Parts: sequence; structure tokens; C-alpha cells
Amino acid sequence: MNLHAPTPESIERAADLLRRGELVAFPTETVYGLGADATNRDAVARIFAAKGRPADHPVIVHLAAADALPQWARAVPDAARRLAAAFWPGPLTLILPRGPAVEGIVTGGQDSVGLRVPAHPVAQALLAGFARRGGAGIAAPSANRFGRISPTTAAHVATDLGDAVAMILDGGACALGIESTIVAFDDDGPMLLRPGSLGIDALTRVLGRAPRSADASAPRASGTLTAHYAPHTRTQLIAAASLLSEVRQRLERDEDPAVLARGVARPGDFAGTWIGAPSDPPGYAHELYANLRRLDAARADEILIEALPNDDAWLALRDRLARAAAGSDDDRD
Ligand code: TXA
Ligand code: MG
Repeated sequence: MNLHAPTPESIERAADLLRRGELVAFPTETVYGLGADATNRDAVARIFAAKGRPADHPVIVHLAAADALPQWARAVPDAARRLAAAFWPGPLTLILPRGPAVEGIVTGGQDSVGLRVPAHPVAQALLAGFARRGGAGIAAPSANRFGRISPTTAAHVATDLGDAVAMILDGGACALGIESTIVAFDDDGPMLLRPGSLGIDALTRVLGRAPRSADASAPRASGTLTAHYAPHTRTQLIAAASLLSEVRQRLERDEDPAVLARGVARPGDFAGTWIGAPSDPPGYAHELYANLRRLDAARADEILIEALPNDDAWLALRDRLARAAAGSDDDRD
């Protein structure tokens, strides 16, 4: 098994492997990343092969600190600078004009590069060890197969990618549980490409106004494809008020739904898989991907998910659930 506790020795070995062009999966505060040396084209190509990800999808480069920005971005708008100062290290990714030395495979051929400074101590220690070996940035998408549920534990990574990675650093369950918030910039200012662990209210506070939401002309982001973060089992969102009656209808048809509820309590006579999720957004996010994996593993006829409240605090979670429902299918290969 290539799963390792993040001791100083194993982190040094992981940094070594990265420098030699191998893949290392590591914890961040959001989800686990599948890392490769961002300056090594062959290593980054291995990420795409391991994930089964199309080559035109860019990957985020993880940096030790914001002072590395000039190496990667040829311009940093003032709003980006303020966001970096306020939220790095943390769950924020900035899309900036690509610097001349950035490999095309990292940017998916686009003229921009995604940059993030992660807060997780293991990610930081890995970046430090990598830097001591002359490394600059670690390219890392979420460590899951393309289109599937993101990993929030080392075991999730092992299940999805197992032998494709040289080493998995096991940092336990990710504290936040959903991916970073992605912000891009154009002549009209900041634009939200992907809602995520950093809330709109926090962005708004620093920017002085809410970022626009991305339109169709925005840069491509695979996390923004409609079908993403998806279980194999067919998945539907159901309003809280009709969840119980929808479940009853299925039981009467002798079907076996698996349920992710939040406010609605499990009926006494329900024998299948019923997960009661935490009712606050941080708690819900922390468990979300593990819950989706459990629901999928139940091999039920269908997954029913209680729809979430409509306010900003739930924005990123509504986004992930909508994509999970859009991307689910009946094949289990
Ligand atoms: O929390 C996170 O962001 C995690 C951890 C590991 O850092 N990473 C992550 O990476 O979610 P990934 O590749 O699964 O999702 C990153 C998204 C993708 O949809 C990608 O297309 C988009 O960011 N992205 C990266 N660089 C971009 C760029 N230059 N322009 C537009 N989108 C970009
Ligand atoms: Mg991903």
C-alpha cells in the first residue's frame, strides 16, 4: 500500500518523488490533490493519464506563498492582490494571465493560469520540501477520476487512483470538504468561476462588492461542467417538503432508494440507507463527498437528496449537488 502517515521523513520522500517526476497525492484543507511538478511536462501529463481527464482542462498550480506569484502570472490585478492578501493560505484559487514560463499542459492551452496557496500543514510542508529541492509549484487537480466524486480522505484516493500514484500522504479527513472558490479577472473586474469553500460574503467584504457570476464566455473549468462530482447511481434532488412522500412512493413500488436528508428525519419503518447530514453548511460540506460515496456504495436503485436552502451560505453546496444529480448515470464500470 502506498499510503503513508505524513511524518517529516515521508514528506521529504514525497517531495523527492515529485521532483523526480512522479505523482504524489496529498491533503489540502479542501480536498486531496493529485500532485506533479508543474514545471515538468511529462509529470503533468501523468496527472491527465491517471485521472482520465481531457488534455484541454487546466490544472491549478499550488504555491508556498503569494510572493511566488510573479513567477507564474504576468500581471496581477489589484483586486487579485487584495484577495490573495486576505485569504492565502486558504481555499481560494485565482485565475491570472499566464506567465511566459508556464507550461501549456498546465493551462490547458489557455492564456491564464490557476494559482492557489493551500493552508493545510502537510501541503505546506510538502511545498517547502519541494522548494528545497529546487521545485517551484505543484500542479494538482482533485485526486479523483475525471467527473467523479472528489476525495476527502486518503482512502478515497486509494480507491480511485491506487497504483497510479507513487505515494499518498494520509492527512486524515479534509477540514473543509469541498473545493476552493475560483475567481477570475477581466476588464469588468472579478468573476466567480466556481463557488467553493470560501464564501461569497468573504469575497464581497474584501472586494467591496460581490463578484459577477461567470457567463458563457468565461474561461473553461472542468469543475463547472454540468456533469461533475457525480455518483454512478441515478441521483435526484427533492424539496424537503416532499421528501417523505417521494420516499413512500418508491417503497410502494418495491424500490430501494438511498437518501441523503438534512432536516427530514428517517421514518421508523425505513430499512435502507438513510444518511442524516449536518444541518449547518460547514458541517454539511465536511461530510458531503464521503456521504455521496456511501450512498453510491449502497447500490440502491436511486439516490434521493433533500434540496438545500436557497441562501448564499449554501451556494457552493447547491452547486455540487446539482452537478452530482446532472452527472449521475447507471453504469458502474
Ligand atoms: O480545492 C481545490 O481547488 C482542489 C485542491 C486540490 O486544491 N483542486 C481542484 O482542482 O479542485 P480541479 O482541477 O479538480 O479543479 C480546478 C478547476 C478545474 O475546473 C479547472 O478547469 C479550473 O479549476 N482551472 C484551472 N486553471 C484554470 C484556468 N487557467 N482557467 C480556468 N479554469 C481553470
Ligand atoms: Mg476536480
